[in-house]
Formats: sequence, structure tokens, C-alpha cells
Amino acid sequence: MMEQNQIQRRCILIGNEKGGVGKSTLTRSLAVACALAGHDLAVVDADKQGSLTLWLDERKEADQQPYIPGYRLAGRCGTEIIALGKKYQTLLVDVAGRDSVELREAAIVADLWLIPTSVDPDDVDALATALTIIRNTELATGSKPNARLLINKCSTSLFDQDANSLIDALDSDAWREVYEAMPPMLSRISNRKAFPKSRSDGQGVIEYAQRKGASKSDQSAAAEIIALYEEIFGEPFKIAGATA
Ligand SMILES: Nc1ncnc2c1ncn2[C@@H]1O[C@H](COP(=O)(O)OP(=O)(O)O)[C@@H](O)[C@H]1O
Ligand SMILES: [Mg+2]
Repeated sequence: MMEQNQIQRRCILIGNEKGGVGKSTLTRSLAVACALAGHDLAVVDADKQGSLTLWLDERKEADQQPYIPGYRLAGRCGTEIIALGKKYQTLLVDVAGRDSVELREAAIVADLWLIPTSVDPDDVDALATALTIIRNTELATGSKPNARLLINKCSTSLFDQDANSLIDALDSDAWREVYEAMPPMLSRISNRKAFPKSRSDGQGVIEYAQRKGASKSDQSAAAEIIALYEEIFGEPFKIAGATA
């Protein structure tokens, strides 16, 4: 049993060896959600390309509050991630879009591993690599990583069934192993302009949707990230403090 004053610490990896599936985008969006909710939060940029660090720099330049501390790690960074996980209540780890030592180390130490994918067949096929990493992590540690598939870039058309079809396809004999190794999150994230657009001001979509003139689609993007936050943390999203 947890003691009352013991805060729950969470180290969340956003990782997939496939590039372009939205790892950094989702890390930014979730980081802002956590920061607004008052988490004692830090993000780890374990991608040599440093796109998350660039965003943090833009955030600082724009003096966007709340401040989000960031750390760049490379190579065998498992122990450093553990140390940061002890220092912060919530740690979000973004990795490169390839099978890297950073991804493998983070997979071992993370409490939750979100695996973003689109419904594109290329991205779905690449899940086989994630499955291999899950299996290897299990062999190395004796316990299965808490990996969850997260469908990103869904169509906003009400009539589009691609995301549902993907879930059905994964829940079939051929793909059952993948489905069980990374059960899909209930939350899905749609393909919306707010995701790339919020990036340039060093913002997350929740902040972007609060600006004057935000569109319905911007607000839906924010709502999807809030739903994802609530599914991950099992608590309602509330902006901390009166001035936020
Ligand atoms: N939900 C989304 N809606 C619209 N564009 C998205 C979404 N998720 C990601 N993108 C875009 O897809 C591209 C790749 O995203 P990125 O987060 O950099 O992927 P990764 O970090 O996995 O390589 C970027 O141009 C990003 O703006
Ligand atoms: Mg990235």
C-alpha cells in the first residue's frame, strides 16, 4: 500500500523504432499537459537529432510558462534515466526513430512505454521490431514491459474506419502476439494541424487551443491529449494554480 504522502512517480517512454510516427509530437503535448497539471516534471531527449531540445529552447525563448526542464542523454542511459525518475514525479523520455541503445535501455526502466503508430501499413509492419524489443527486455529483466500501442494521426472523418480496422486486425490470430504485448490504449490521436503548428511557438496543443481564434479542430486536439493524460494517469486533468 502506498503511504498517503508518497507521490506516485512515473517514467514514461514514448518509443518506436519507426520515425515520423509522432513520438516527439506526443512527448511535447503530454509534457505540457503534465506541466499545466502541476506535475514535478522533466523530459529526456534521447534522440541525437535533438528535436525535443530545440522545442524546449523555443519555449524558453518565447518565455512560455510553465518552465519544463529537459535533459539530453545518449548511449547507455538507463542508470541516468533511473536517477532522473527518482528526482522528478513524472519523466517523459523521447527517443530516436530507430532501434537504438537508448530505446532498449529506456524500455527496461520505464513504467509505461507508449508505442505510437499510424494506421499506415509501413508503420504497422514496423511493430514487429517493437515486439522483438519487448521480448528481449522480458528475457533480460524477467518481467514484461508495460507497453501500450497508441494510434496517432487518425483520420478526422467520422466515416473513416481505419483505426477500428487496425484494432480488429491486430486482434486476430496473425497479430495476437503484438496485440497482447502492446495492448492498444483506448485514446487515439487524430491528424490535426494543431500538432505541428503548436510546435513553432514552443507550445503544446493544450496551450495552442487556449489562444484567441483557436479553431474547433485545435480544441479537439487539446481534448484528445487531455483524454490521453487521463487514461495514463487515471485522474481528471486539472490546470494547477489560479493564474494558469
Ligand atoms: N497527430 C498528428 N497530427 C498532425 N501531424 C502530426 C501528428 N503527429 C505527428 N505529426 C507530424 O508528423 C511528423 C512526424 O512527427 P514527429 O513527432 O517528429 O515523429 P517522430 O518523433 O516519431 O519521428 C511531424 O511533421 C509532426 O508534426
Ligand atoms: Mg522524434
